[in-house]
Amino acid sequence: MARKFFVGGNWKMNGSTALIKSLVAETLNTAKLDETVEVVIAPPAVYLEKTRATANKNIGVAAQNVYYKEKGAYTGEISPAILKDVNVDWVILGHSERRQYFNETNEFVGEKTAFALENGLKVIPCVGEKLEHREAGKTMDIIFAQLKALADNVKDWTNVVIAYEPVWAIGTGKVATPEQAQEVHAGIRKWLADNVSAEVAENTRIIYGGSVNAKNAGDLSKEKDIDGFLVGGASLKPEFVNIINARL
Ligand code: G3H
Repeated sequence: MARKFFVGGNWKMNGSTALIKSLVAETLNTAKLDETVEVVIAPPAVYLEKTRATANKNIGVAAQNVYYKEKGAYTGEISPAILKDVNVDWVILGHSERRQYFNETNEFVGEKTAFALENGLKVIPCVGEKLEHREAGKTMDIIFAQLKALADNVKDWTNVVIAYEPVWAIGTGKVATPEQAQEVHAGIRKWLADNVSAEVAENTRIIYGGSVNAKNAGDLSKEKDIDGFLVGGASLKPEFVNIINARL
C-alpha cells in the first residue's frame, strides 16, 4: 500500500478568527492543492470548531493535545469525545514543546496516544532529539525510547502518523538536511519492522518537522522514507500552499 503524502500545519499558540478567514477560507479553500496530499491543520483548541466549519472537507483538522480520560473533573483538559463532538478527527501528541514546557514523559505520551486511538482519533505522535543528544551520538537512542513508549501502548497503528522533529530544527531556521532526516526516518522504519511488524513499518507514515518552508520542502520530499511534513511557522502563511504542492 502506497503511503499517502501528509502535510500538517501546527499553528501552535498562534492564530485568530482573522487568520481562519484569510488563511483557511481565502487561501487554502481556494488554492489548487495537490490531490495526492493529505492536509491537516491544527489551530489552538478554541478555534477548532470554527476552523472545521470553515475548511473544505478535504482538509482535516487536528487538536494540539488531548487528555486520556473519558470525562470528569480534569479542569482545563479536553477529551477525545469532545473533539469528536465538534468533528475533529486528528490530534498531535507529545510535541517537543509539550515535553519541554509541560513535562510530558514518553510514558504519558504513549498512554495518551493509545487512549486517543482507542477513542476514534487519528494521532500524530512526535519524536525527536535535542542538539545535545545529537552531538553525543544519542539521536537514535532517544528516539527508540520514545517509540518504545508508543509501542508499549498502541495496539493498532493504522491511524498513526509519526512526526520526527529534531528539537534543534524547530523554529530555528536550521532545517535538517534531506540526508540527516532520511537517516532518522529510515531508522524509525527499521525500528518499527524489528519491534512492531513489517506491515506497520511499511504502511506507517513518518513525516518531518523543523523549519520546513517552501524552499526546502521539495528536496526533503524526495527522500524515500519522508512521507510528508509537520509545519510550524510556515503553516501560518500562504507559503503553506507551496509546501503542500512541493512535489508538483
Ligand atoms: O510542529 C511543528 C514543528 O514544531 C516545526 O515548527 O516549522 O516552526 O520549525 P517550525
